[in-house]
Amino acid sequence: MGEKILLDCDPGHDDALAILLAAGDPRSELLAITTVAGNQTIDKVTHNARAVCTVAGVSGVPIARGAAAPLVREAIIAPDYHGESGLDGPALPEPTVPLDPRAAAELIVETVLAHEPGTVTLVPTGPLTNIALALALEPRLAERVKGVSLMGGSYTRGNRTPAAEFNILADPEAAAAVFAADWPVTMVGLDLTHQALADDAFRGRVRELGTPLAGFVEDLLGFFTTAYARRGFPAPAVHDLCAVAAVLDPGVLTYREAFVTVELAGRWTTGMTVTDFDGLLGRPVNTRVAVSLDRDRLWDMAVAAIARLGRPAPAAG
Ligand code: RIB
Ligand code: CA
Repeated sequence: MGEKILLDCDPGHDDALAILLAAGDPRSELLAITTVAGNQTIDKVTHNARAVCTVAGVSGVPIARGAAAPLVREAIIAPDYHGESGLDGPALPEPTVPLDPRAAAELIVETVLAHEPGTVTLVPTGPLTNIALALALEPRLAERVKGVSLMGGSYTRGNRTPAAEFNILADPEAAAAVFAADWPVTMVGLDLTHQALADDAFRGRVRELGTPLAGFVEDLLGFFTTAYARRGFPAPAVHDLCAVAAVLDPGVLTYREAFVTVELAGRWTTGMTVTDFDGLLGRPVNTRVAVSLDRDRLWDMAVAAIARLGRPAPAAG
């Protein structure tokens, strides 16, 4: 079987693409999906995760609802990027996939403990609240996972404040706990994901697939393109896709090692991922930081996954 992945997300247009890659790439074994309030409220992102799985024909993957708010701060959302529904653009079907009765933190712990140590990778693509709650629920979690590949942070500039990226700023206490835990963390931050701009060349390849799922992705990217154009981007950054790709094909990115921690008390810098590549703070390396992207290889993976999921089911008989 492939890379065992648990995706913790806040769909979210780029989270939706992360779901499709994690579900559709033959190198991936998507064990579970958990949701966390972020781009929109927990109700909306949970509905969206189930709707994306419905459109994509993803079944048998437990989906559990997670934290409705950060550990200690007020929730922030991002309707300016993702709309009122959290997934504006495509028509969303009523979900036909069930909601797992467990809370996200429970499902995360149970999933990791149910598999051989060192085989499950957690891929958080939203605020890190569920991951921090799971660590608190089961202190053995850190030693049992293969690693954490998170979309979040930045070693240069933020996107919600000049210093902080949205996922980290939304719950900086949770993020600080994730970077402080004793497990392998890959940080796929804005410095990397702003190289993953879903341009017309990529959209054209998706459109050529001609399946209903391809049409869904096109509508999703159409809205996302407009949202990013308002900020001067030529195309939308599909951030979360990169965190999944880093697990399935590590060579799609290059990395540098660093000590990373999260600022919690800065008047202007709270939520900043303070990234020390040079040992200036005298702290041990705790993070592999993604720095460059092989964009063509990323688009190849994404198009292949969408094609594989969208293929009509073989005729019965
Ligand atoms: O800053 C980008 C991140 O915040 C992405 O994960 C996006 O989906 C939002 O959650
Ligand atoms: Ca996200």
